[in-house]
Amino acid sequence: MIDLHKMVSHNDAPRSITKQDYRTKVSSFFSDWFVFVGGTLVALLVLLALWSFISPNPSFSTIIISKSNTLDFNLNQDSQEAASFYDDPDLNYSIEKPIKNWDEKRNKWLKLHPTFNPGIKERILVVSGSQSTPCKNPIGDHLLLRFFKNKVDYCRIHGYDIFYNNVLLQPKMFFFWAKMPAVKAAMVAHPEAEWIWWVDSDAAFTDMDFKLPLDKYKDHNFVVYGWPKLIYEKKSWTGLNAGVFLIRNCQWSMDLIETWAKMGPQSTEYDKWGQTLQSTFKDKNFPQSDDQSGLSYLLLKEKDKWGDKIYLESEYYFQGYWVDIIGQLDNITDKYLGIEKKMPSLRRRHAEKVSERYGKLWEEYLIKDKWRRPFITHFTGCEPCSGDHNPIYSWETCYNAMQKTLNFADNQVLRNYGFVHKDLLDSSSVSPLSFDFPSNSLV
Ligand SMILES: *[C@@H]1O[C@H](CO)[C@@H](O)[C@H](O)[C@H]1NC(C)=O
Ligand SMILES: *[C@@H]1O[C@H](CO)[C@@H](O)[C@H](O)[C@H]1NC(C)=O
Repeated sequence: MIDLHKMVSHNDAPRSITKQDYRTKVSSFFSDWFVFVGGTLVALLVLLALWSFISPNPSFSTIIISKSNTLDFNLNQDSQEAASFYDDPDLNYSIEKPIKNWDEKRNKWLKLHPTFNPGIKERILVVSGSQSTPCKNPIGDHLLLRFFKNKVDYCRIHGYDIFYNNVLLQPKMFFFWAKMPAVKAAMVAHPEAEWIWWVDSDAAFTDMDFKLPLDKYKDHNFVVYGWPKLIYEKKSWTGLNAGVFLIRNCQWSMDLIETWAKMGPQSTEYDKWGQTLQSTFKDKNFPQSDDQSGLSYLLLKEKDKWGDKIYLESEYYFQGYWVDIIGQLDNITDKYLGIEKKMPSLRRRHAEKVSERYGKLWEEYLIKDKWRRPFITHFTGCEPCSGDHNPIYSWETCYNAMQKTLNFADNQVLRNYGFVHKDLLDSSSVSPLSFDFPSNSLV
C-alpha cells in the first residue's frame, strides 16, 4: 500500500541524489562538450513518418500519425494576410535578444487567428530534446527513442503538441542550459499555446491518465517540483528540480528566461554567477553555474520579483526520483488491477481517443486510497545517452529500472490496443488481453 502523503513528504532522497547526480553530470561536463542528452533517431522517425505520409504506398503504415485531438482547426477563418510580430524584422528568436511586449504581440496574433481561442487556457506544448550527435552509450539512442515514444504516447492521448529539439540553439548553452533557448523559441513559434512544458529526455510519463491540474496554477506562471522549506530555510540548491517545468507563454516568462539565462555559459557573467551560487548554496559542491541553482537563487534573493508567480509543486510526482518509485511499480500494478476487477466501468474496453474520460473515472478510487501511479519518473543520475551514470548505482540497476518503468507506462498505452507486457522486464514480448480483462484474470 502506498501512502501518497508519505511519498511526497519524503523529500530527502530526491534532494540528496540530485546532488550526487550532479557530480556525475559535472564530471562529464567539460570532457564532453555537447553532452546535452540525445538522439538522432528522432529525426529519422520524423522522416519516416513524413515519408509514409507522402508516399502513395507507405510501407511504414504501422507508424501512426495523430494530430492534436483537441480541436479541428479551421484556418480559413483566420486573417492570415494581416501583419503580426512575425513580420517584424527586429523580433529575434535567439536567447540573447529580449522580447518586449510579448503579451500584446501574442494577443494580437491570437485575434488574427480566432481558430485557436477555444481552449486557449489549457493548450500545452510539450518540449524536450537531446544532443545532435549519436549517444556515446551504444544503447543510448534506443533508450532515448523509448523515452521519446513515451512522451508521444502521452501527448497523443491528451491532445498536446510536442516539439523535440536536437540541436543547440545557442552553441554555448550546452547540457542542461540547452533547454532555455529551446523553450524561448517554442514560446515564439507557438503563440497558440498557453503553456510550454519542458520535460527532460530521461523522464517518462508513468501515469498516462493524469493531467496537470491547470486550475491550481491559474495565478502562477511557472511550476516546478520543489519545497519552499529547502530553498528558503535550508538554502539548498536541490530544493527544486529544474528537469521538468511548466512555463506560461507570457512576458513575465520572457523576463524570467532572460534573467535566468544570464547565469549561463554564453554570458559574460557566467563565472561570477558560479561563485555567487556556490557561496549562496552551501551544499553546492561544484564551481560552475547551473540552471537549477540559478532558479533557486532567483526564488531566494528575488522573491518579490519572481516568487509570487512560481508554484513549487510537491503534492504529486510532478517529477519523481526513479529510486523512490521503482520498488513500488509492482504493487501499484496490483492495486489498479484489484480495483478494476471490482469495477466493470473502469475495465470497459474503449477507443484510445476517449481514454481521458475513463482516466477521470479513476479519480474517486485513487483519492480514497491515497495512492496512485507516479506521474513522471525521472532517471536522474542514469545518463542513458552518455552512459556516465552515477557510480552509486550500477548500469544494470539503471537499465532494468528504465525497462521496467517504460514498460509500466507502455502497458497503459497497449491496453487500448489489446495487448500487455506481462513481464515488465521483457520489453520484446506482449500477450493479447482477454475480453473484460482483468475480471477473469489471475493477476
Ligand atoms: C538575432 O540575434 C542574434 C544574436 O545577437 C544575431 O546573431 C542574429 O543575426 C539575429 N537574427 C536576426 C534575424 O536578427
Ligand atoms: C508490496 O506489497 C507487498 C504485499 O502486500 C508488501 O509486503 C510489500 O512491502 C510492498 N512493497 C512495497 C515496496 O511497498
